[in-house]
Amino acid sequence: MAGILDRFKEDQTAAKEVDASRKVKVGIIGTGWIAEAHVNAYKKCPDVEIVAAADLIPGKAEAFCKANGLENIEFYPSHKELIDNADVDAVSVCTYNATHAECTVYALDHGKSVLLEKPMCVTLEEAVEICRAEKRNNGVLSIGFQPRFDENMKMLKKICQSGELGKIYYIQTGGGRRRGIPTPYGTSFIQKDTAGIGALGDIGCYSLDMVLNSIGYPKPLTVTGYKSDYFGKDPSYEHHDVFGVDDFAAGFIRLEGDIILDFRIAWAMNLDTPGDTIIMGTKGSVRVPSTECWNGSIGGPLVIYHEIAGNQVETIIEEKHNDEDCFDIKIRSFIDAVKDGGEAPVPCSQILYNQAIIDGISRSAELGREIAIEIPEI
Ligand SMILES: NC(=O)c1ccc[n+]([C@@H]2O[C@H](COP(=O)([O-])OP(=O)(O)OC[C@H]3O[C@@H](n4cnc5c(N)ncnc54)[C@H](O)[C@@H]3O)[C@@H](O)[C@H]2O)c1
Repeated sequence: MAGILDRFKEDQTAAKEVDASRKVKVGIIGTGWIAEAHVNAYKKCPDVEIVAAADLIPGKAEAFCKANGLENIEFYPSHKELIDNADVDAVSVCTYNATHAECTVYALDHGKSVLLEKPMCVTLEEAVEICRAEKRNNGVLSIGFQPRFDENMKMLKKICQSGELGKIYYIQTGGGRRRGIPTPYGTSFIQKDTAGIGALGDIGCYSLDMVLNSIGYPKPLTVTGYKSDYFGKDPSYEHHDVFGVDDFAAGFIRLEGDIILDFRIAWAMNLDTPGDTIIMGTKGSVRVPSTECWNGSIGGPLVIYHEIAGNQVETIIEEKHNDEDCFDIKIRSFIDAVKDGGEAPVPCSQILYNQAIIDGISRSAELGREIAIEIPEI
């Protein structure tokens, strides 16, 4: 009886039926570390067939597919051959940052849908090329920000959009690791020719997305940026000889709507955290306890500081649990958009601003002064 009476507490939203008779044929471009997460998530979709894989390194795609139990796969030596020859509806671009733009533009221009790993690319110029390719073609392009699907991130957005904070005027975000320069399977994250950008793009893009998505992605106007490489270049660090990107970056950004964004990110630092994320408004502010900025988690309950009947009070929003893995939702939502011709779950029109900030921080740091962020018409 109690089970029946309590039924209103259960989630009443019916799980979406998947039409397994309509298959989406997928190709994997770049068969390194993150490609495995894509394959694992695609395997959970009864309407997806992985039919092709490409990698620049001879034999790598073959070994990868064998290790992941994929059969009847066509192998190609680069994205171009795969896109030109394989019968695919969509591709996952899982290459290192430096080839994101060329793979994505080529795929979109050849009628394919693309799930592109984060960060979108290296430069603003490349981001503009990607957005223009998306505009002139019909394929779906979604950018791989799985934290978007985290229930806590969704709650943060709801809070910001609710108006409860009043006018938002100042944001501090970022984070990082005390020691955590990523070299999981080689040095593609830290070499200039493959990664292009370091902590700034790798984990910086996540914390920027967390706050910018929450407040509706206002346009960035100006930036003062800084970046350094003291840890990566330290002779005691085993890969210092090939380290060619930033391991710390910071920026002070003016956003449209008179909002200041104060940002810092580290792969390595002599500190536990460079601070919590805070979003300050005229009626309330929210604190997001510091995170490691890579897995979509938040570091503890959200705290809202506000005033009730003249009293300064705090409202604590307990951490929410995700019933489904965010990475699985990232893949499923992309496939749904491909099948239904729907909106991209994470559209490039938003991430363009994320990339513009990353590019602006980098250029401002190199010039040693504040710069205007100018985003060409798409
Ligand atoms: N979403 C996440 O949680 C997450 C986690 C890790 C990495 N990533 C992102 O995924 C991307 C890849 O990271 P990784 O660790 O798998 O890198 P990786 O270096 O392990 O693998 C990349 C592979 O792409 C191949 N490649 C490069 N250009 C190619 C091309 N034109 N055609 C075919 N193959 C090509 C390389 O040979 C390499 O094997 C990065 O942009 C990274 O930021 C995302």
